[in-house]
Amino acid sequence: MNFVNYAHRGASSYAPENTMSSFHLGLEMGANGIETDVQRTKDGVLVLFHDDTLMRVTGQPGSVKDYTYDQLQTFSVTVHGQSDRIPTLEEFLRAFGHLDLTFAIELKQPFTEADTIAMLEKYDMREKTVITSFKLECLMRARACTGNYRMGYLTDDINPLTLPVMETIGIQEICPEASLVTPALVEEFHGKGYSVRAWGVRDEALMKAVYDAGADGMTVNFPDKLTAYMA
Ligand code: G3P
Ligand code: CA
Repeated sequence: MNFVNYAHRGASSYAPENTMSSFHLGLEMGANGIETDVQRTKDGVLVLFHDDTLMRVTGQPGSVKDYTYDQLQTFSVTVHGQSDRIPTLEEFLRAFGHLDLTFAIELKQPFTEADTIAMLEKYDMREKTVITSFKLECLMRARACTGNYRMGYLTDDINPLTLPVMETIGIQEICPEASLVTPALVEEFHGKGYSVRAWGVRDEALMKAVYDAGADGMTVNFPDKLTAYMA
């Protein structure tokens, strides 16, 4: 299995997160994967957006689910002095889904599982996607929709009590918060048959520690730095 350098919400240290410009920049920086977050609008359109509320990156009140897709298109995601608009999952898949990349698609809203998987299926994404969530209930519902997709459990707490639940759901990847990743942890989970992919890589030192620990991938806001380290 090749190590996956996931551009986290795109190259989000440099471009407005979860926008097409950020994803394109991530690939220019050598990422071989893209991570993004799925939410559903008031009128049922799946869009890519991280936060529970719109305020931090758009300056608008409320949440994705409070607006129609057309209304959301009037808002700008403005970060790092640059702006772009909120993309749909479908336009993301149309632009990038055919590329030789790995995709980490995070379910942010409960009960978007079936629609998200249907959209992934439309673009034949099964072989190159890991469906992820911090919420085991989302992964459980997603698994009820499909037996085929890889799934990753995002967690900041490696709790042995959740392992049987992960097994029952049929999760193949553990996604620990990066500071939890050690060579021993990676060895332990590899021994159990899981791949290990970190998140929350806040700086280059942690990035290097995760890579050196033998993990299978990480989401990183600065994929250029990881590309350079992997060279
Ligand atoms: O890699 C997964 C990571 O995106 C989880 O954290 O808060 O950025 O969705 P968050
Ligand atoms: Ca995410």
